Amino acid sequence: MKLADIQAWLMETDPVRLEALWAQADQVRRDYVGDAVHLRGLIEISNYCIHACLYCGLRSAQLGVTRYRMSAEEILLAAGDAVKLGYGTVVLQAGDDPAITTAWMADVITALKTSYPDLAVTLSLGEREPKELECWHRAGADRYLLRFETSDPFLYAYIHPSHPKHPRPHRLEQLLPLRDIGYELGSGVMVGIPGQSWSSLARDIALFKELDLDMIGLGPFIATPGTPLANKRGAISDPVPNDTLTTYKALALARLMRPDANIPATTALGTLDPQHGRLLGLQRGANVVMPNITPAHLRENYTIYPGKANVSETADYALTRKSSGLTQQLAKIGRTIGQGQGSRNAYCRYRSRN
Ligand code: 5AD
Repeated sequence: MKLADIQAWLMETDPVRLEALWAQADQVRRDYVGDAVHLRGLIEISNYCIHACLYCGLRSAQLGVTRYRMSAEEILLAAGDAVKLGYGTVVLQAGDDPAITTAWMADVITALKTSYPDLAVTLSLGEREPKELECWHRAGADRYLLRFETSDPFLYAYIHPSHPKHPRPHRLEQLLPLRDIGYELGSGVMVGIPGQSWSSLARDIALFKELDLDMIGLGPFIATPGTPLANKRGAISDPVPNDTLTTYKALALARLMRPDANIPATTALGTLDPQHGRLLGLQRGANVVMPNITPAHLRENYTIYPGKANVSETADYALTRKSSGLTQQLAKIGRTIGQGQGSRNAYCRYRSRN
């Protein structure tokens, strides 16, 4: 699909034509990754962050955040619970926290892989040095998530004032070593960032294909009180709405561009529309859900944005057993919970890279 076509779809408002987009994305999803919905248990291991990203409720300058860092024992316990509940993947996420040292993290990964050899471990720990990323991969980490947030270099520089200056968005540079090291690679963007243009969002989506991403995370920008972007929407020209409809369009297009990628119906989508967000996402291109399995007493402090869905949701909501809330919701749309690690199909990956 050409850039102009991606942009035209993003700007499409005719419900009849949009039905055709949803149907096409759903068909491609079914053909390439099937009806299984893979679960990733999200463990938010630290909410400390050295950065100052203008949109994020965990930015270093944010007042009123109770900061925490989980111990290795707490992480192992949470992962053990996930395994008991039938999860094939855990995602360890944190702010950019230098107290998460190379050696400490490598020990946590080794312990996880020793105790639970069948568990896939995804890291989402911000912008780290290639040598530590390599060390963690050697310790057994399988996947890495780092959203580039926007491909527009000016918008990127504006919303990331504490990041190294680079002609390209710094996080795009960071993705290259991750790929070379051998991680399954995930990235993505926010939809409706103040100052984002239609053409840059179209370019973001084209990049998903160019980068041959294994995983793509897409969610609406949600204004967070106390951050510099809290009241910016509307103040400068903001053609791209930060709403569910625009996010569904971006999600469907991401599926068309990267047919065999793992694409979650994100928490941010579930936050804007708690009733339908995730399920509609799954019917418009997504094939993954990431339930929050952070210990309940810490979860309320991981306040990237307000009203984060599933703060009160328990991991066994998404249990693999038949009576769980999620299994029943999925059954209604003809889907099942995936078994195993749910990695990107290795054959597709080989073919697209060689
Ligand atoms: N609204 C929506 N998503 C956000 N993120 C950070 N802040 C916000 C916000 N205010 C997303 C970013 C980040 C991911 C962990 O959460 O895309 O990469």
